[in-house]
Amino acid sequence: MAAAWMSVLVVMAVVNAAEGGDDRRPCASVHASSSVVTVGSPVTVTCVVDDDCPALAGHQVQLRLGDRVLPGVIPVANGSARAYRLLIPAFNHSRATLTCCLRDAPSHIIAGLEIQAGYPPPALRNLSCQANLSAHESLTCKWEASLPDSHLPTKYTLHTHIGDLKWSHAYELPPGVRSYTIPRAGFVFFSEMEIYVKGVNALGETSSARLALEPVSSAKFDPPKIVKLQAWRPGCLRLKWEFSQFQDWMRDFVSLEVRLKTESSGSWTERPILDRAMPQRYVYQCGLLHGTRYVAQIRVRYQQSPWSEWSGGRPAFTLETAPTGALHTWMRVTGHLLHNQLQMLLFWKPSARFRANGRNLSYVVSALRTLNKRGKLCATAGSHCTFHVPRKARKVYLVALNAAGRSSPTSVPIYRPIAGETIPEVRAAAAGNGSVLVRWEDVPSPALIDYIVEWRPLLNNDLSLVRFETARRNLSTLIVTGPLEPYKPYGISVYPRFKEGIGPPRTVHAYSLQKAPSEVPKIRIKKNWQYHVELSWDEIPLDRRNGIIQSYKLFYWDETRRVHVATGDPQERKVVLTGLNSWSVYDAVLMVSTYGGSRNGSMVHFDIKEMDPVSSVIIVLATCAFLCLLIIFLVKTCSSEHNRLKVRFWPDVPDPANSSIKSWTSESTQDIRSSWDFEEPNPIYLSHLSFLELPRKPGKEEDVTAWLNNAEDTSDLGESICGSPFLPGLASSNGDSVPYATVIFPAPHPHEYLRSESTQPLLGSEESPKCYQNVDASEGSQCFFGPCRPEEEDNAAAAIQWEDFPFLRALAMNDTQ
Ligand SMILES: *[C@@H]1O[C@H](CO)[C@@H](O)[C@H](O)[C@H]1NC(C)=O
Ligand SMILES: *[C@@H]1O[C@H](CO)[C@@H](O)[C@H](O)[C@H]1NC(C)=O
Ligand SMILES: *[C@@H]1O[C@H](CO)[C@@H](O)[C@H](O)[C@H]1NC(C)=O
Ligand SMILES: *[C@@H]1O[C@H](CO)[C@@H](O)[C@H](O)[C@H]1NC(C)=O
Ligand SMILES: *[C@@H]1O[C@H](CO)[C@@H](O)[C@H](O)[C@H]1NC(C)=O
Ligand SMILES: *[C@@H]1O[C@H](CO)[C@@H](O)[C@H](O)[C@H]1NC(C)=O
Ligand SMILES: *[C@@H]1O[C@H](CO)[C@@H](O)[C@H](O)[C@H]1NC(C)=O
Ligand SMILES: *[C@@H]1O[C@H](CO)[C@@H](O)[C@H](O)[C@H]1NC(C)=O
Repeated sequence: MAAAWMSVLVVMAVVNAAEGGDDRRPCASVHASSSVVTVGSPVTVTCVVDDDCPALAGHQVQLRLGDRVLPGVIPVANGSARAYRLLIPAFNHSRATLTCCLRDAPSHIIAGLEIQAGYPPPALRNLSCQANLSAHESLTCKWEASLPDSHLPTKYTLHTHIGDLKWSHAYELPPGVRSYTIPRAGFVFFSEMEIYVKGVNALGETSSARLALEPVSSAKFDPPKIVKLQAWRPGCLRLKWEFSQFQDWMRDFVSLEVRLKTESSGSWTERPILDRAMPQRYVYQCGLLHGTRYVAQIRVRYQQSPWSEWSGGRPAFTLETAPTGALHTWMRVTGHLLHNQLQMLLFWKPSARFRANGRNLSYVVSALRTLNKRGKLCATAGSHCTFHVPRKARKVYLVALNAAGRSSPTSVPIYRPIAGETIPEVRAAAAGNGSVLVRWEDVPSPALIDYIVEWRPLLNNDLSLVRFETARRNLSTLIVTGPLEPYKPYGISVYPRFKEGIGPPRTVHAYSLQKAPSEVPKIRIKKNWQYHVELSWDEIPLDRRNGIIQSYKLFYWDETRRVHVATGDPQERKVVLTGLNSWSVYDAVLMVSTYGGSRNGSMVHFDIKEMDPVSSVIIVLATCAFLCLLIIFLVKTCSSEHNRLKVRFWPDVPDPANSSIKSWTSESTQDIRSSWDFEEPNPIYLSHLSFLELPRKPGKEEDVTAWLNNAEDTSDLGESICGSPFLPGLASSNGDSVPYATVIFPAPHPHEYLRSESTQPLLGSEESPKCYQNVDASEGSQCFFGPCRPEEEDNAAAAIQWEDFPFLRALAMNDTQ
């Protein structure tokens, strides 16, 4: 805009000058050594003033570049004209207007000139061309221009020359482009052509290196297609392929690359490149695994062209053959059965050199080396099996089978469990990436063969998840790679294997990664003794533990909020808090930590007010003791008083309910007798008892006779009592008669008589006592109502209070002895 405005002024000045002059020559003009210069190069400018122009006569001029006045103007003579010259040492504007004006009137411009600065065209590099053989065939060339930009108008052209046809062409390129697509008419697939790019501007011209190429060999083909892939000889596949639809005119040999992958490996294996491949012809790939599913892909290129993209994958199975290679096995006895049978559990896994060679692999465990029905112990497609063998068996054989045959049998020796040395210690620690490092202490036994490390998830009892590894006897560590699931418990057992059998395993729990438990157990509060509180809790279920419990920490605080910490035993899971204030209420939080994190449970409150169980117990006990003593005292006093009173005021009315014989019927009688219960003779001291009936008006002689008659029969008390139905007199209820009992204490005591308080004929009643047997007949003594006692005790018991039994006393006085 400024430049345009300047130009207008210049034009006006020129016109003015021309009008003032004789001819149409301008009065003043500006010249430069070059109006287009390389940036930073020197420029000489000259302003020539025609003194013939009256308007300018006598005026000094100055030169300006844009708005800036340039110093150092040197006047030089030029014939009739005045000239002013100036050297700009480094012209650094990309475009600027140089003006010549009167020094007295700087706004009066008498001449002007625009100068541009820039660079020659940049170097053109990395020209490359690639033919596209798809639907719209073309040849696209790309190049790069170096910096800096020329800042000057530059004209680019793409030149092609096809030598065979002696045919050249130049394509004009729009400014700024860096690629150009030559249309199909501009090239021939199989003719070599020369291509270059050229740039021209005011300061010079450049051209790229010349590129010679055959368009086809520059083409990136479309991905080819695998037409057929099939098993051929064992270990070989053959495939037939073709170009994509746009390139199926191609009949030359091309380079072909095949890559294959198996389902299990998951990564591609490139096979050697075939240099003379033709579409619709077979390509053979050998040295493959047998009976294995392969997926194949191919790609092509012509001479040095870039490779096409890989084709789509196509699967095929190779031919099956019998399985080969060894299996690693691990067998242990899991039980003893009837009929001398051992229950075995056998695990196996393929060794590095094992080849299934077939799709449908199964295994047979056999007792015989040759596979037949008779010896077959189990058959499975899995990797473990349970079976029974006779106790004497020494070996079983494991065979892998597929549709094409069976492997040679792997012999598995039977090791029995022995009580031998155990491994002193086994430890497991996470080793990153789902693996666990197992470390054990050696068993220093010369009979040791090796160790078996067996691991399994503890939350899943599926035997197919059991894994094992054998470690040589000189090893004491093993990295168990699973990968083991994080936060899940695994049981890792190490078995030492000796010549004679398998020693007892040692098992540890392990986690490949731990984190805070998923739950915190509930706290149970037990206030059990003075100012002590026991807090206990259950174990966290295994599936919620997420790691090995490292510690239980109980944080508790009272109103002052000073936090105390108590550590609970991980095994016992309880803490006992002491030194608590009885007037405070406490809050507590349980923190459970595994080696991977901690979690806090919910808060519980407790106090030890109003409880103090020890004091309560002491008070209760003291009160009870006092009451007991009081009762004993009262009972004693009352009973002695009662007897005296009773004797004095009431006649002796026998009470059947209080009959001692009746009460003897209870077996517990002996036990409930207390030491102060003296009123009744203790039946346990009685050894012999019989009954007699006295007539209403007894004569003394008859009494004795009656007694003697009945006494004849008293050799056995059981007989005499049980036999009561045969004593009709006793059987009938008779208020007039007073039954008496004779009691015989063990010799040497004389017969003594005790009167029953009962007036009822007890023996005939329904509630008569059961027969008593001579329970201790072997000892010869006659104890019918209880265990025999030493005789000394009998003396005390025999101290009968005769005054209570007046009739008996009368009898005793007339004792026949
Ligand atoms: C003198 O001026 C004329 C134009 O008026 C020019 O062509 C010529 O080159 C000049 N000579 C010198 C020596 O400056
Ligand atoms: C050109 O050079 C002059 C002095 O040499 C400097 O003052 C000016 O800033 C430069 N301009 C540019 C555009 O580089
Ligand atoms: C371009 O060519 C130069 C050398 O001439 C080289 O260093 C550079 O890597 C090439 N760039 C590309 C994109 O090929
Ligand atoms: C060839 O051109 C087609 C469009 O005509 C395009 O989709 C394809 O990507 C090109 N191929 C290459 C290799 O540039
Ligand atoms: C694999 O073998 C089992 C029995 O051995 C059979 O039932 C199954 O059809 C077989 N599968 C294939 C793919 O051959
Ligand atoms: C875990 O595996 C990744 C890749 O499988 C590996 O880059 C990384 O180093 C491994 N980390 C450890 C601790 O082994
Ligand atoms: C264990 O013994 C084997 C040979 O029986 C040997 O190759 C290996 O290096 C030994 N390993 C160690 C840790 O000593
Ligand atoms: C559990 O609570 C205690 C006390 O409030 C605190 O010190 C600790 O950091 C908490 N732990 C977690 C895992 O939040």
